[in-house]
Amino acid sequence: MAMEMDQLVALCKRRGYLFQSSEIYGGLNGFWDYGPLGVELKRNVREAWWRDMVAGHNELIAPPGAPEPYQMVGLDCSIIMHPQVWKCSGHFDLFCDFMVDCRESKRRYRHDQVNGRWVEHRGRRVFVATEAAGDEGLRDTEQKALKFFNLRNKDAGELQWDGGLVSLTTVTDHAEVLGPDAKTLGTLTPPREFNLMFKTIVGAMGGEEDAAFLRPETAQGIFVNFKNVLDSTRVGLPFGVAQIGKRFRNEITPRNFTFRSREFEQMEIEFFCRPDSSPQWYAYWRDRRYRWYIDLGLAGDRLRLRDHSKDELSHYSCGTADIEYAFPFLPPGEFGELEGVAHRGDFDLRSHMEGKLVRQGDQLVLEVDAEGKPRHRGSGKDLSYFDDQTKQRFVPHVIEPSAGADRATLAFLCQAYCEDEAPDENGVPQKRTVLKLHPRLAPIKAAVFPLVKKDGMPEIARDLYGELKTRMNVFYDEKGAVGRRYRRQDEAGTPYCVTIDGQTLQDGTVTIRDRDSLRQWRVHRRELVDELAGRVG
Ligand code: GAP
Repeated sequence: MAMEMDQLVALCKRRGYLFQSSEIYGGLNGFWDYGPLGVELKRNVREAWWRDMVAGHNELIAPPGAPEPYQMVGLDCSIIMHPQVWKCSGHFDLFCDFMVDCRESKRRYRHDQVNGRWVEHRGRRVFVATEAAGDEGLRDTEQKALKFFNLRNKDAGELQWDGGLVSLTTVTDHAEVLGPDAKTLGTLTPPREFNLMFKTIVGAMGGEEDAAFLRPETAQGIFVNFKNVLDSTRVGLPFGVAQIGKRFRNEITPRNFTFRSREFEQMEIEFFCRPDSSPQWYAYWRDRRYRWYIDLGLAGDRLRLRDHSKDELSHYSCGTADIEYAFPFLPPGEFGELEGVAHRGDFDLRSHMEGKLVRQGDQLVLEVDAEGKPRHRGSGKDLSYFDDQTKQRFVPHVIEPSAGADRATLAFLCQAYCEDEAPDENGVPQKRTVLKLHPRLAPIKAAVFPLVKKDGMPEIARDLYGELKTRMNVFYDEKGAVGRRYRRQDEAGTPYCVTIDGQTLQDGTVTIRDRDSLRQWRVHRRELVDELAGRVG
């Protein structure tokens, strides 16, 4: 059955996956808290990423598709960095979105997220705007147009539509625009640029000159530490530096649950390589990262790799591909970004050396002001690399796979949500909601139940629970009918339930039940820990 987004949102609240931040005060838009199960799920997403990309990486052999073996190390940098970092990285000037305000409704919109349709009635032509997209956008604009022209539903045929839904960015003059929440025309302001970095003041007596920013990406911490990593380890090209951490983006219109938040976590790799081999590394990381999501359970038909067109590229990028997922809150056929894999060239290291660069044709050149002075000065430090093999000095090129931990977590939740039927203890089919999370990601790996609360079953179950707990996150439950206990764990996404029953007392075996296939089998209690450990990864 297709999932409605509000069913997942309700489950996340009910089972303690996600709560709105500061909920008892009415919440704060764009900020989310992970509950007891959510915190485990997101930690498992981060740990799977770190294990697969960094800790478990074998630097002695080239993984499939990699041009040669490479090394991986990690960093954990501060959230607030020297303000000059953001000037040289380009974020100070370019990390912006355009917004429009509505004078009538007092609402603010991201310019590129407002859509609309041109419609004419009795010689009057109006652009009817909506925040919705796809079929919902078409329905919404029709209802708004009927209201605006004072028509009833049965008169909808009198409206003459000129084309389908298009972005508000295609409309140059807002005089004939009916805003998404307005009753009169021309209430939307012209688009204005808005920097998305959160500003703060450092120090108790700080003034504007002590302004600093919450990092808008984790990547820059890696670039400014490039020399420190080279000097303190034995890494040599090619190598990657990984970082997981919070980043901030003062989104104009946060929406779609955690998909567009203002505070979120990022899992990034800056992969340094020789310029001539960078195209192969770019292809390697695109494919490697795409496969990672598939291996952890995202369906191939809901996941795609999309190359950016030239005008979509970020200011630093000379090639980017997005890994995108068909989130259920998007109109059919639309995909939302999960991760970007960018070829950043030598933009960042050179910017932190020389000063902020701009692209001129195929060249990166120093950006200068009207007097010919650098617009933003670099550190002046040498961030080049001496290649022992070729005896050459150069600035390495960078491939950056940049994933959102919260978006990945949301995608895994969307993919896992399912409603089906499972037999209860009497064999009667019962409706159940189940989260079919990959066992590596599931917050609770197994639940341990004594079938009944007597005959020594709880004692054995508690012993087994204690043994398992040393190896994985497990849950103990002895309350209520066993069928109900199974269903509770299905909804929490627990892949295995272990039941201690009458036969356990006779031969020491316990029943394991698989959440997805509902298959049940018996193993000896001595083998239980290894059996489950092998399955949950
Ligand atoms: N260093 C490059 C960089 O930061 P980005 O496209 O800004 O690139 C990378 O972000 C990833 O972070 C995205 O692919 C997405 O998964 C996640 N992300 C971006 N904005 C987000 C937001 N407002 N809320 C949640 N996740 C977001």
